[in-house]
Amino acid sequence: MTEIPRRVRVVEVGPRDGLQNEKTIIPTEDKLRFIALLNEAGFPEIEVTSFVSPKAIPQLADAAEVFPAVEKKPETRYPVLVPNMRGMERALAAGAQAIAVFTAASESFTRANINMTIAQSIEAFRPVVETAKTNGMHVRGYISTTFGCPYEGAVAPQQVVAVADQLLALGVDELSIGDTIGVATPNQVTDLVPLLAERAGLERLALHFHDTRGTALANVLAALHLGVSTFDSSAGGAGGCPYAPGAAGNLATEDLLYMLHGMGIQTGIDLAAVVRASAFLASVVRRPLTSKYLQAALSAGEAQNGGVR
Ligand code: HMG
Ligand code: MG
Repeated sequence: MTEIPRRVRVVEVGPRDGLQNEKTIIPTEDKLRFIALLNEAGFPEIEVTSFVSPKAIPQLADAAEVFPAVEKKPETRYPVLVPNMRGMERALAAGAQAIAVFTAASESFTRANINMTIAQSIEAFRPVVETAKTNGMHVRGYISTTFGCPYEGAVAPQQVVAVADQLLALGVDELSIGDTIGVATPNQVTDLVPLLAERAGLERLALHFHDTRGTALANVLAALHLGVSTFDSSAGGAGGCPYAPGAAGNLATEDLLYMLHGMGIQTGIDLAAVVRASAFLASVVRRPLTSKYLQAALSAGEAQNGGVR
């Protein structure tokens, strides 16, 4: 068994994955306040918005206003999602320095999400990745539905490997392996990760769990034992993909940090500061967020609504 990493990189996806499924449009200034609070927590990476079709994701239609207004820390990366060249042009115009392209391991989901076949998505990404590389940008490649698809059910590891190979051939710097609808169990992680690590290398592999069925932390633990050291999560456990029925929240950042820190694994992230960011977000969306740690912290009065709103 591989030694558990002593340090883990937590990628905060709340402002993008957390917000994209919110029905009520959140004012741009509230998004910026949320991101500023997350910035105070010291994340190495915060995914801030998406340059996708505003018809597909109305909530993030203000990407061109949000991105330039984020106060950037020099040590933090601020990636944005880009599905095509139109998105790439918008991302460049806004000053983005890191992007994420996104496809999936199952055809039906890819069609529902980006209206392309998997093969078409790879071709759409080719000029995007080339342009990114010319501009010295970091490129992440997401693969969704890697442990199960809302339309097709089971997804075989070989389907994921085939898409991973194509993204790596395009030149992405990192792969993020998405359990889009939160169906994975640890044995699936143990089956899939070594196949991908063989191709990408462990250091270029991120895991992106949704916690729909309560298995996300168990899956993280399995992945840690395989040597994975990058995990995506969203503050408060907000999130979901509108094109993935039942894709409830991402793994909550607070729950992930609590477990990692308790295991003696460093992240460099201030958990109390994340609680303040989530408490602010809960006040904006006017409902409690699902993170277990957040609920415990708030009911213990540790954050008192973050004192921020
Ligand atoms: P389409 O309708 O096939 O594309 O959408 P189109 O080229 O015909 O464009 C339709 C309209 O959108 C046109 O406008 C375009 O100009 C415009 P119209 O002429 O009708 O006025 N358009 C754009 N506008 C702004 N920015 C753009 C852009 N592209 C086209 N980039 C498309 C195809 C890919 C554009 C669309 O389906 C789309 O934007 N999808 C994004 C869906 C999305 O963001 N899903 C959530 C993110 S993925 C996720 O959550 C999973 C993840 O978290 C990992 C996991 O959990 O597994 C990453
Ligand atoms: Mg997601």
